[in-house]
Amino acid sequence: MKRLDKLIALNCNLSRKEARQLIKDGEVSVNGSCVLRAEELVNEQADTVSVKGYAFTAKDHIYIMLNKPRGVITATRDDNKETVIDLIPAPLRRRSLFPCGRLDRDTTGLLIITDDGALSHKIMSPSHHVRKTYIALLSYPLYDEDKERLEQGITLADGTVCLPAEVRAFEEDGAYYAEITIGEGKYHQVKRMFAAAGNHVESLRRVKIGSLVLDDSLGEGECRELTQEELGLIFEEKI
Ligand code: URA
Repeated sequence: MKRLDKLIALNCNLSRKEARQLIKDGEVSVNGSCVLRAEELVNEQADTVSVKGYAFTAKDHIYIMLNKPRGVITATRDDNKETVIDLIPAPLRRRSLFPCGRLDRDTTGLLIITDDGALSHKIMSPSHHVRKTYIALLSYPLYDEDKERLEQGITLADGTVCLPAEVRAFEEDGAYYAEITIGEGKYHQVKRMFAAAGNHVESLRRVKIGSLVLDDSLGEGECRELTQEELGLIFEEKI
């Protein structure tokens, strides 16, 4: 059993004083009932503690799905620019959260934030072949011969040869799009692949990591914890 203020301070990366203030403000509930006593004892394993409506239980690690908005940088901290970690609400924030991989500042969509270094390594490491799917808004239609070059493994302007990609071109409201799935994560890779195919990416959104699909009920800038089942989907490739 642990004191409520101590549990909140630990899990939300807050000082004891800040945790006590949240309790006093009526922002904390235990098993669905508001608790106003900081010294209330709670069972970390069995009780559900919610802060500002976000429930947490005592877990070793936290896994968060973020719908990254444009204009925010994929870093843990920056003196001038807003980072993806700044978007995580206090109840989900832990001491050592970091993003798994990197999306460009102007890229939107699925980003996993965690404090689990092993998981991050597994997602990023080429040997685990975790494939990522993006939707690119293109300046021009994607011609069949260029699509084939992407599918066969296109050579970038600097001579780097990419692994074969899966590509589906489509048109919507008169605009040209491509859904592209790749198993690598080179710098600006998708943009450089389409540039090598004579096209230009106007905007880019990541929609899938492995078989984990971005929850379309999350608005840009919103996040939520992943379920255990969803975590498993990252490493499960559905054909
Ligand atoms: N490829 C890019 O070019 N940019 C991203 O943000 C991700 C993949």
